[in-house]
Amino acid sequence: MTANELRKKYIDFFVSKNHSQIAGKSLIPENDPTVLFTTAGMHPLVPYLLGEQHPAGTRLVNHQRCVRTGDIDEVGDFSHLTFFEMLGNWSLGDYFKEEAIQMSYEFMTEWLNIPVERLSVTVFAGDDAVPRDDESAAIWRSLGIPEERIHYLPRTDNWWGPAGATGPCGPDTEMFIDTGAPGVEGSRPGINDGKYMEIWNDVFMQYNKTADGSYERLDRRCVDTGMGIERTITILQGKKTVYDTEVFQPILERIGALSGRQYGSNEEDDRAFRIVADHVRTAAFILADERGVAPTNVGAGYVLRRLIRRAVRFGRKLGFDGPFLTNPAELVLEMYREPYPMLQNRAEEALSELRAEEERFLLTLRKGEHEFTKMLPNLQKSASATIPGRIAFKLYDTYGFPIEITEELAREEGLTVDREGFDVAFRKHQEQSKLEGEKNFKGGLADHSEQTTKLHTATHLLHQALRDVLGDHVAQKGSNITTERLRFDFSHPDKMTSEQLSKVEDIVNEQIQKDLPVSFATMKLSDARNAGAIALFVDKYDEDVKVYSIGDYSKEVCGGPHVAHTAELGRFRIKKEQSSSQGVRRIKAVLE
Ligand code: ALA
Repeated sequence: MTANELRKKYIDFFVSKNHSQIAGKSLIPENDPTVLFTTAGMHPLVPYLLGEQHPAGTRLVNHQRCVRTGDIDEVGDFSHLTFFEMLGNWSLGDYFKEEAIQMSYEFMTEWLNIPVERLSVTVFAGDDAVPRDDESAAIWRSLGIPEERIHYLPRTDNWWGPAGATGPCGPDTEMFIDTGAPGVEGSRPGINDGKYMEIWNDVFMQYNKTADGSYERLDRRCVDTGMGIERTITILQGKKTVYDTEVFQPILERIGALSGRQYGSNEEDDRAFRIVADHVRTAAFILADERGVAPTNVGAGYVLRRLIRRAVRFGRKLGFDGPFLTNPAELVLEMYREPYPMLQNRAEEALSELRAEEERFLLTLRKGEHEFTKMLPNLQKSASATIPGRIAFKLYDTYGFPIEITEELAREEGLTVDREGFDVAFRKHQEQSKLEGEKNFKGGLADHSEQTTKLHTATHLLHQALRDVLGDHVAQKGSNITTERLRFDFSHPDKMTSEQLSKVEDIVNEQIQKDLPVSFATMKLSDARNAGAIALFVDKYDEDVKVYSIGDYSKEVCGGPHVAHTAELGRFRIKKEQSSSQGVRRIKAVLE
């Protein structure tokens, strides 16, 4: 079954079960500043999962383009993709476990003809907060899945959501197909040995995770499901990897024709082929998106830049020394013309932006190469035949010359690079930028007096309270603190009502009175984000950051300084709420 056929079958099946087909949304989330890309079909539906009425009804189905770039630099193996399509069906307070599982079962066995013997499932094993999901297990049993193919796994495996720090979430049941691979001894779904491949996930959103970390039962229970197209067709076609399917074959062929090499000839080239193919596909979708971004140094634009530059770097390994990405990118847009017609509207712009970025990077590479050549005679004279880390770092820092390229050129000249020395210089530089960042941040404070420290801590409480009252679209847009007052700018489209203002004020004062302890932990930015910390995702590297927690109430990436206990803050009072700019409100508040 091809991707096109699977997409169509899925929609047809759920339409036959009274679901309305809704359009997938942009890859760039409209109302969620905490993520750079749409990562699942449920993402654009969060308000409806939280209770808002959806105009298309209570049963929905769609296919959604998704980007997940957890670790771009690792992509190039057989299973990771930075872009994929997710099929999803939703019940918004309509059907629940019984019907959802029955429909999943019917679709898999009758529409995809997956033999029931090849199916295994996992369900939530239960923990202190939420009991074992015996209900789902019983439904699977009633459908003929024997007990030995029903696996009870913990929260790390069988729980999904919330998308942010609070919100709808619940146990899920995941469906796996036995690929026939031998697997490790004691292999089971959830062990990543190639034997059991997950194709579908039914999430039962029956809890609301609250700010104090507890799970309260929802009156209106929802179902959120996700099936990955690329992965599923790979398994249904009996292919080893997604690169062997019709989704990637034409792209690999095109890259082969342009480079004069062939995918499948040798492993080193193949890895480069896969990276270029994956990255050019993702870049094409991001660039041509209706909310398309251009390559920049921040946020989604920075991820895009890294994808393009990494594709160029690996293209060099295939012998490309000029721009080459627009050709396969155009093919990608053509291949997806039918399911994603909107990509055509920005195709021309997307391709010319891609070309410009490629040329910019090639120029950087040429300048770096020129510098490298100038340094070469001296480097060759040294007895160690090693390029010192600080020189490699200078090439990187001054000319934007990636370390991998320095290493490549060095190899060609019979030299090595002191990679450790480079890493040391790199970290030192990062540390310095961070310190500068903190200094700038502190510059945002009038001085380091006790009062500004208090006001700054109050800003964290205010930020979270605004999100509680107005919604998770609230994100910090600016902050300025003097010894007298705090000023906080945040995204929100409307003037706040006096009711909302007093609610926010009350929440902050309540948290102050609880005398919550303020603490911090240092962790990787990605872990902070997974822990639900509020952060401005403009950072380029997955560097260590400080996450400040105020009790269980607020968790935010920040450089400090903060008070130790909230009772030190006194009484919080909002003085003024006004417009700051289009879509941004401003609050001025004091501590009395
Ligand atoms: N939102 C769920 C997932 O991404 C279905 O797995």
